[in-house]
Amino acid sequence: MIIFEKAIELQHHLDQCRQKNEDLGFVPTMGALHNGHLSLLKTSLKENKLSVCSIFVNPAQFNDASDFKKYPSTLEEDISKLETNGCDILFLPSVEEIYPDGFEVKKKYDLGYLDTILEGEFRPGHFQGVCMAVERLLLIVQPGKLYLGQKDYQQCMIITRLIQLMGLEEKINIRICPILREKDGLAMSSRNMRLSKEERAKAPALYETLIFLKQNICNGSLRDLKKEATDQLQKKGFKTDYVEIANAKTLKPINEWDARTNILGLVAAYIGSVRLIDNMMLN
Ligand code: PAJ
Repeated sequence: MIIFEKAIELQHHLDQCRQKNEDLGFVPTMGALHNGHLSLLKTSLKENKLSVCSIFVNPAQFNDASDFKKYPSTLEEDISKLETNGCDILFLPSVEEIYPDGFEVKKKYDLGYLDTILEGEFRPGHFQGVCMAVERLLLIVQPGKLYLGQKDYQQCMIITRLIQLMGLEEKINIRICPILREKDGLAMSSRNMRLSKEERAKAPALYETLIFLKQNICNGSLRDLKKEATDQLQKKGFKTDYVEIANAKTLKPINEWDARTNILGLVAAYIGSVRLIDNMMLN
């Protein structure tokens, strides 16, 4: 695996690879890699001659300064996991490399309602920050295929929108990979490393909430079901940001279900100081 820290050097190397017609898959991450991240890499390796992974803890997307400060970093293990799994190139830029003019000067991306619902509502500015980093990374790497996880369902929709705004929808094929879970259902996440033993034991409750929604949806009003699921999570000691049922295509919340529309359950909650999210198709 070749590691690049400088964008210009990576670009120079990738230009040479492109001349040899090597198709390129890209897996952007913030490191503290787990098997969920690696499943994206494995899919990219299967579908492309060359796979680039990036590790960049993007300061612009943390609306909560302490979350940024405490974001786990396991660089040595990450490098060894990427190497073991056959990653071709790791891009490991500094903040200055991604934001030569600083990241405070924010350009406003027109993300429409997606920027103000669910994660957008509870993490103001988060998706604008995601777009800043992903735009820069895509311009540097110029991949043919981009690998994202369904774990961050709304982020997948946001990045799809970003790629349209960049006019690159013909050039970049977005591949959305399924959520990898621990044996007890907990969705793998870098933030799981921050859970205490007691918190880790409770954490599968998010997954259980989604299963509860899935087992109990029926057509008609969904308000009582959402309320019951929220109450259950609250009783287990979680501080819930949302338990929502949404149209899987638009992500707009649904309160009355016609039994035909594809719907998605989404949950975001704090266990102690750690905020976890999860989602699941309900039909
Ligand atoms: P990060 O949280 O490191 O996630 C990197 C990619 O891994 C994302 O596409 C995410 O959806 C995917 N992923 C995370 N957990 C997963 C799981 N359990 N199963 C499958 N895939 C999973 O998402 C980001 O970083 C950043 O916002 C980024 C896109 C890199 C921009 O900074």
